[in-house]
Amino acid sequence: MAASRFIERLNEQIGYEFSASQQYIANAVYYDSQTLPRLAAFFYAQAVEERNHAMMMVQYVLDADAEVRIPGVAQPESQFADVVAPVALALEQERRVSDQVAGLMGVAREEGDFLSEQFVQWFLKEQVEEVATMSSLLAVVQRSVDNPMLAEDYLAREHSGGGTADPTAPTAAGGAL
Ligand SMILES: [Fe+2]
Ligand SMILES: [Fe+2]
Repeated sequence: MAASRFIERLNEQIGYEFSASQQYIANAVYYDSQTLPRLAAFFYAQAVEERNHAMMMVQYVLDADAEVRIPGVAQPESQFADVVAPVALALEQERRVSDQVAGLMGVAREEGDFLSEQFVQWFLKEQVEEVATMSSLLAVVQRSVDNPMLAEDYLAREHSGGGTADPTAPTAAGGAL
């Protein structure tokens, strides 16, 4: 039985994941409007990942026979000063989510809720990767302010062919996109 305090906190996290997804769509649209298709594609894909994170959490709450609350989300930032700003915002967001996920782990531990602890483990590992990916990309775009094609080339080299499905990922409600 999942602890009700954990479920409460997980329902909040569902909202943060959907917000992250919306923010990444806004980032992608900005890059598309600047004719930077690789940066756009990168963030469109990240948006789907965040949506999937939310839906994995939805599935967990469903499986726990608890009430799922699908939240509205705040309007994402869509005005950016330059090509660096959306990535800087993304890194900040990923760091915040890492803290939130660590907080979830803390609640599961305090409640002696081992199943929930195990569920959160995957997200903790995922956050390590996402923070690392975003901080590398930030370094690249910072070097590319005067020539964003450098960042485009970097993404074409390092992030093409969209990731392979992770068999250890939790099940997403309705199936992962
Ligand atoms: Fe996420
Ligand atoms: Fe993320």
